[in-house]
This record gives sequence, C-alpha cells and structure tokens, in this order.
Amino acid sequence: MSGIVIAGVSRIFGTVRAVDNIDLTVAPGEFFTLLGPSGCGKTTLLRMIAGFSELDSGEIRFGDSRIDKLSAHRRDIGMVFQNYAVFPNLSVAGNVAYGLKARRVPAAEVATRVEEALALVQLAGYGERLPHQLSGGQLQRVAIARALVIRPQVLLFDEPLSNLDARLRVSMRSEIRALQKSLGITAIYVTHDQEEAMSVSDRIALMNAGRLEQVGVPAEIYRTPATRFAAEFMGTTNLVAAQVLGLAAPVTVSLRPEALRFAEDAPADWPRLPGIVAAIEMLGPITRLDLRLANGEILRMATLDTPQRTVQVGQAATLAYDPARLTVIP
Ligand SMILES: Nc1ncnc2c1ncn2[C@@H]1O[C@H](COP(=O)(O)OP(=O)(O)OP(=O)(O)O)[C@@H](O)[C@H]1O
Ligand SMILES: [Mg+2]
Repeated sequence: MSGIVIAGVSRIFGTVRAVDNIDLTVAPGEFFTLLGPSGCGKTTLLRMIAGFSELDSGEIRFGDSRIDKLSAHRRDIGMVFQNYAVFPNLSVAGNVAYGLKARRVPAAEVATRVEEALALVQLAGYGERLPHQLSGGQLQRVAIARALVIRPQVLLFDEPLSNLDARLRVSMRSEIRALQKSLGITAIYVTHDQEEAMSVSDRIALMNAGRLEQVGVPAEIYRTPATRFAAEFMGTTNLVAAQVLGLAAPVTVSLRPEALRFAEDAPADWPRLPGIVAAIEMLGPITRLDLRLANGEILRMATLDTPQRTVQVGQAATLAYDPARLTVIP
C-alpha cells in the first residue's frame, strides 16, 4: 500500500490550462475523490497518474518512487473506466485474465487469480459468459475485477457508475468502497456527482477550471465551504447578503435549506424570517419549499415530510434559521 504525492502538476492544451499547478497528497489506503463540473480537469489529472497523458510540469510519486516518467504498464495501477472498456469477444474470465497474461503470469496462477478476483466482485461462476450476457452492473464488476486482479498499489476510477441506473449506482458505490477498504488499496475516484463523492470518499478535492477549490473530508466541504463555488457545487444552498438576515457585517453567507425550519418547530433563540410561500416541491421523504421574503429574495428550505401540516403556495409563513449553521463566504 502506498500513498500518492502530486506536486506542481500541470497539463496545458493550447490555451486551456486543463490541470493548473495542482498539489495533492493522498494517504496510503485512502479513498480520495476528484470532484468537479464537466471540463474541470478530473480525467486529465487521472490520466497523468495512470500514465496515459504526459505532464507539462511537476511530478507524481507513489510512496518514495517517482512514477511520472514510467510507462503506464509499469506504474502498478488498476483503472476502471466509465464505459467499462470490456473486450466484447472475450469471456468474462478472458477479460479478467488479460492483464495477467500480458504480464506473463503462469497459466495455473492466472486461473486461480481470475477466480479469486471474480469472487471478490461477486461474480463467481460467471467466467464463461460473454459480456453481452451480463447486465450493466455485472459488466462494471468485470471491469473492477480486471483492475484488481493485477493486485495494483493504486486503483483509479473515472466515473465508473455513470452508465448505470440510479438505484444500481447507489448500491455499486457502497460495494466499491467496501471492496477498496477490505483490500486496503489506495484509490482515486473521479465523479461530477457531489452526493456520490460524499458517500464514498475519505476526502474530496473539489476542482474548478483546472485548479483545486477546496480539499477536505465530505462533511467539512459540505458544512463549511471555503468559496461560493464550493457552497453551490456541494448541494443546494442559499447565498444571502448578511443584512437580509439582520446581521451587521456586509458579507455573503451560505445557509443550507435544512438549516431552516418553520418557526413553530424551531428553538426560540433562532432568528425569525417572515415571508410568503412561493413554491412547494414534494420529493417523498423531504419537502422543498421556497419562501419569498419582504425584499423579494427567495430562501430555499427543506423539511422532513410532515403529513399533519398543510402548507399552500401564497400563504404567509415564518421561518427560523439555525445561526450556528451560517457559513460566511469570503
Ligand atoms: N486531448 C485534449 N486536447 C485538447 N483539449 C483537451 C484534451 N483533453 C482534455 N482537454 C480539455 O481539457 C479540459 C479538461 O478536460 P477533462 O477531460 O480533464 O475534464 P473532466 O473534468 O474530466 O470533464 P468531464 O466531467 O466532462 O469528464 C477541457 O477543457 C477539455 O476540453
Ligand atoms: Mg472526465
């Protein structure tokens, strides 16, 4: 198991600084996620770690050894892609065996290691099937088995779940994390989905236009976003001028929808905000509600489903907010 050091790494395509002087340290055994919107440089950085793209500056180390000059197959990494990249004409076992054969592992050992890898991803007994006989979730497991079978120091995932339906994505992401933790492999995971990132990661690096916006554990980035971009990217929030909330300082604050409640449900010392209900959205376990304040500003609130309460658009309502959950945005 080894950690990863990324030091001053850049990649420039023409006028685009796809990855712009990034410094990161990933601890041994850590599940580390690169999160950010389309085009922010996630895949480019991952490809540089994998050895599929050159660095324009900087260096990358696994443990004590510098690896950015090594060719991809000598870096001791396993990689799982968005589109699985499974060979359609090879059986499941053939796909998983591929990397071992390329490394000239003896046939008897290949057979046992393929079986072990398939068992790890819960596909024992599927070795003879062809890829077209598998579901999307099973194909993605083949791709994971193929990456694991070479027993890499480092596992890289580039949006591995984006081709799966919502339910399967949720179950596969916890499977991937459980597997990574049980094997103790260092993992770097790329996604543009903040909920997926928060659910699987030990730490997240939020990227924006080739740069790091914030690095931290999920709760820290969600609860105390360092920038306006981080506040907005990590989920719904209210960015309001402090005077709207009756605070003196002329700053912008972030107030998450779940930090607001109906006044009658809130502690007496939470500040009150009277307004008019402008919209209601029932999402099952939670209801989202927009409140229009006297100055026209809209505050978004989320509450757990409360069947005994009737709220209608156009009705006056007073909300209260938890002052401890205000985050000042610099
Ligand atoms: N081979 C290339 N040639 C020119 N520009 C490139 C190349 N690869 C990436 N880029 C540009 O670099 C930037 C970062 O691309 P990258 O694929 O790393 O983004 P990403 O964060 O993975 O996005 P997505 O979430 O859409 O996959 C983009 O502006 C992209 O257009
Ligand atoms: Mg990408």
